[in-house]
Amino acid sequence: SGTLKLAVIPGDGIGQEVTAEALKVLELAAPAGVKFEPTRYDLGAERYLATGEVLPDSVLAEIRDHDAILLGAVGGKPNDPNLPPGILERGLLLRLRFELDHYVNLRPSRIFPGVASPLANPGDVDFVVVREGTEGPYTGNGGALRVGTPHEIATEVSVNTAFGVERVVRDAFARAQRRARKKLTLVHKTNVLVNAGSVWWRLTQEVAREFPEVTVDYMHIDAAMIYMTTDPSRFDVIVTDNLFGDIITDLAAAITGGIGLAASGNINPDRTAPSMFEPVHGSAPDIAGQEKADPTAAILSVSLLLDHLGHSDAAAVVEAAVIADLAERSPATIRRTSEIGDAIASRVGG
Ligand code: NAD
Ligand code: IPM
Ligand code: MN
Repeated sequence: SGTLKLAVIPGDGIGQEVTAEALKVLELAAPAGVKFEPTRYDLGAERYLATGEVLPDSVLAEIRDHDAILLGAVGGKPNDPNLPPGILERGLLLRLRFELDHYVNLRPSRIFPGVASPLANPGDVDFVVVREGTEGPYTGNGGALRVGTPHEIATEVSVNTAFGVERVVRDAFARAQRRARKKLTLVHKTNVLVNAGSVWWRLTQEVAREFPEVTVDYMHIDAAMIYMTTDPSRFDVIVTDNLFGDIITDLAAAITGGIGLAASGNINPDRTAPSMFEPVHGSAPDIAGQEKADPTAAILSVSLLLDHLGHSDAAAVVEAAVIADLAERSPATIRRTSEIGDAIASRVGG
């Protein structure tokens, strides 16, 4: 019981719209005796364009002093000449993940009852991608030479430390151990990326010895994408690097009912800093401001948040409300963002 401090970063585009619905649901879902105290941080494109600030150190320090973070999405209008690509993505989102040591980027995928998959026979799909969150090609370890010339050389070198790989692999094994099928699939490209690949392969084999009940499988990333579309029910826990995990989880969203349903947690398992919960999707400038965004992913992210904070009953209530809403959705009835949020909220608070 008591007060939990929540940093809220709605961000850009539909991030604003879906976060409002997620907060509605969170307020109603808080267990008896627990109060969420949200503090809103207006970070994102608007602030950057007005002030040049992306994530001031003082704001980061304030955010750090919270129990959890709820984020909508970041990313401005495409091809804005005043907003170079990556400024917000790297300077805000990735900086939060790196500084707060969100080394487990947890992205569950399930086909909920009544939800249509674009696959004809998807089977019983229920897997979770444990995406490494602090390393890989995302670290900014690279550069460009002879820029703008025909001899330009651009590099983005993937960083894979034994420390970073081992800790995320161990977390993935522990999750597999807690699940019914107890199966872990390492996805990589060890046949080509031999340096990084050998670290991932070796440490997966080593950590496997601590989890004798977990079945270990390996797939190259390209083949994994075949199985994700032809036989996704074979997956239980997938562990992979930062970039592969980014790509896999958009496909995973697509086969399980769409990007509007895909939730994620950027977890700091050691709890040295607050974890951050956000939909997998971005700011969707193509539909922003039209109340067309599905807030379900943001609401399911609230369920992950509650679970992380130890309120698994409340988390289950939110998930059940979403499942009930999904089961009753009809493709013929298009609901506004707030209508979906209200419907789920009333099931939680009803
Ligand atoms: P996106 O996820 O924003 O949109 C991809 C497609 O999915 C679009 O057609 C969009 O309309 C649709 N979509 C996304 N979320 C939806 C929802 N909740 N309901 C219904 N439809 C939805 O990806 P993008 O277009 O590649 O990127 C747009 C911006 O968002 C870029 O600036 C990108 O860098 C940023 N981005 C941010 C995050 C994040 O904050 N975690 C994630 C991905 C992309
Ligand atoms: C995501 C996004 C981010 C990522 C971008 C916006 C930095 O695509 O959360 O999946 O690549 O991790
Ligand atoms: Mn992504």
